[in-house]
Amino acid sequence: MNHQAPPSPDAAPSSASPSSDAAFLADFHFVATIGATDNNGVDRQALTPEDKQTRDWMRGWATDKGFDVRVDAIGNMFACLEFVPDAPYVLIGSHLDSQPLGGRFDGAYGVIAALFAALRVKEELAGSGLKPTFNLAVVNWFNEEGGRFAPSIMGSSVYAGLFDLDEMLAVADLEGTTVAEALNSIGYAGTDTPPDAITYAEIHIEQGRILEREATDIGVVESSWYTQKLDIDVLGEQSHTGATAMADRHDALVAAAKVVLAVAEVVDAFEEEALVSSVGQHVVEPNSPIVVPRRVHMVADLRSSDPAIVQAARDSLKTQIAEIARAHDITINVRDFDIRDKRHFPTEGVELAEKAVANEGLSIRRLETMAGHDSVAMNHRVPAVMMFVPSVDGVSHCEREFTTDEDMLRGVRVLTSVAGELIRGELADVRDGAVWVGSSVAEARA
Ligand code: HGY
Ligand code: MN
Ligand code: MN
Repeated sequence: MNHQAPPSPDAAPSSASPSSDAAFLADFHFVATIGATDNNGVDRQALTPEDKQTRDWMRGWATDKGFDVRVDAIGNMFACLEFVPDAPYVLIGSHLDSQPLGGRFDGAYGVIAALFAALRVKEELAGSGLKPTFNLAVVNWFNEEGGRFAPSIMGSSVYAGLFDLDEMLAVADLEGTTVAEALNSIGYAGTDTPPDAITYAEIHIEQGRILEREATDIGVVESSWYTQKLDIDVLGEQSHTGATAMADRHDALVAAAKVVLAVAEVVDAFEEEALVSSVGQHVVEPNSPIVVPRRVHMVADLRSSDPAIVQAARDSLKTQIAEIARAHDITINVRDFDIRDKRHFPTEGVELAEKAVANEGLSIRRLETMAGHDSVAMNHRVPAVMMFVPSVDGVSHCEREFTTDEDMLRGVRVLTSVAGELIRGELADVRDGAVWVGSSVAEARA
């Protein structure tokens, strides 16, 4: 397992041009020191002091290089380059927030790659005397990870019109702090009008093994998996672990343990790897060693390329959970949320990425994304292009997440090429009428 520790955050050699590979690596590895954990990961959950530090870094970097930085009401950050007054913007970017004890590449790579791609496009334009059709902005989307504030992919979903702004501002974390309070506490409760998007592109680590296994440089996403969460509230009765007769106990944690196993084992009813599931969040109340737990709150995550499989698994789990509740004489409430339909990215965007990769002399393959991304939300609003660079061992959302410098640099080159095509008008006409209607399976079935 090749996991080089991040080099020390030395600034790029002064001889390096501001948009050079050396400058990108110096900046990337510097940002990886913000919120760094002991095992080469980062912990920069949304709206924490560490998240503020990376936001401040992005604002400073972009302002120094002539970008106009805007922050909207849900805390999305836009570093804007206006080439054509009043023209719409091509947006490129990802997210700087991380999972708890997460990886230093997930999201942050895409934002820093986008900053450098935009700077290279600006430099190329300056020398050419050419005028593009659209403007360009780099986005740091608020709370893509959803570790602190659920649901995930929050900022881009508000921008895309999928989530209601006021509802999301009222979402609270486990301590009861709301998004609105947290935005204010770090000074990122924006009031700016966000730029109007015409198309979107994102580059991200694959978080899977395909590119590494096939020694392929770039992945381009054709569609995103169907996913949903289950909010599961197990309600028993608090009692003394020593003095209460077993027959009198209503132990929420024992029942919850059976629910966790049911969520894990539901995949066995389907073809291997056709469905993935886990309970990621698990909060026990009152969590005292001498008290039989009265409540366990859990969130389960179900995903498949086939929407019917997730729906069948969800129905099976609801039946099994009702049986567990009956057998333990307790109440278990189950609520569906954060349902994301399977969506196809426009073929013209896939082909645009393939052309850019061919021009760079690199290899590419089409694939699906199991993980959610801001591009999945943006693909509801405008035609989007989603690309991957390889992940070593395919791991992510953990400290040993890793992508090599060489692979990151190849991704910056490809994103620069795609962004250059998008501001010249590529993909902008891929719409059904005035509005882009992503060709999602759900819509095709409607
Ligand atoms: O939901 C996701 O898959 C992403 O990692 N937030
Ligand atoms: Mn991500
Ligand atoms: Mn992630």
